[in-house]
Amino acid sequence: MKIYKELDYDAVSKRAAALVAAQIKEKNDSILGLATGSSPVGMYKELVDMYNAGEISFKNIRTVNLDEYAGLADDDVNSYHYFMNQHLFSKVDIDPANTHLPNGIAADPEAECASYEDLIQSLGGADLQILGLGENGHIGFNEPGTPFTEVTHLVDLTESTIRANSRLFEKIEDVPRQAYSMGIKTIMSAKRILLIVTGTAKADALAKVLTGPVTETVPGSVLQTHPDVTVICDEAAASQL
Ligand code: F6R
Repeated sequence: MKIYKELDYDAVSKRAAALVAAQIKEKNDSILGLATGSSPVGMYKELVDMYNAGEISFKNIRTVNLDEYAGLADDDVNSYHYFMNQHLFSKVDIDPANTHLPNGIAADPEAECASYEDLIQSLGGADLQILGLGENGHIGFNEPGTPFTEVTHLVDLTESTIRANSRLFEKIEDVPRQAYSMGIKTIMSAKRILLIVTGTAKADALAKVLTGPVTETVPGSVLQTHPDVTVICDEAAASQL
C-alpha cells in the first residue's frame, strides 16, 4: 500500500488527478471505477482542466460508478447520475454510452443488482477504482457489518450515513433510505484502488482502515488485503496515524 500525505484538499486533488491521468495515458480504454461525494470533486475539476489543456482524452474510457440512491431518477439533482454529469461527464469527451451507474428507479431491484454486477464483470472489473471513505469506515455504501463476500446489492443506509449525506439535501427527510452499491467483493476485483480521504472527521476511520484489524466492522480495512492500493490523504485526515 502506498500512502501520500498532502498538505490540504487541493494538494490531494492534484495528486489524485495525476494518478488517474497516468492511468488514462497508459491505457486509453481503461475501465475507471468512479465515486461521488465531496472527496473526488477537486480531482474531477483537475481532470477537466487537464482535458481542456489537451493532456488527456476520455474518448475510449469506460466508467462504472460505485453507487446510486434508490428512488432517484437520473435527472434528480441529488442523484449520482446528476453529480457525475455535472462534475465530469458533460465536461469531457466521454461517450455517455460508456458511462454506467446503477438505475435508481429500477422496477426490480434484485435484477438491477445482478445486471449491474454482470456488467462490471463483463468489462473485466475496474482497472482503477476510486474510493472515498465514510466517517464510519464505509466504502461505496458498504456499511459496517457488510460481509466482504457481498457483490452489488441494495443497502439500507445507516443513520450516520443519512446524517452525513443530508448536507447535500434541502432537509434530512429528503435523503433516500436505501442505495444500490457495488459490494466489497466487486470493489476488491479492481486491479488498482485509489482511496481519497480528507478532513479531521475522517481521521479516526482512516487510522482504523490503515492500522486496525481487518474486520467487517470497518469495511475499508479490507483494503489492507488488496495488492495495489494508493491512499491519498491530507494532514487533517492523517492526524491519528
Ligand atoms: C460515494 C461513495 C461513498 C463516499 C463516502 C465519502 O460514491 O460511495 O462511500 O465516498 O461516503 O463521502 P464524502 O467524500 O462526501 O465525504
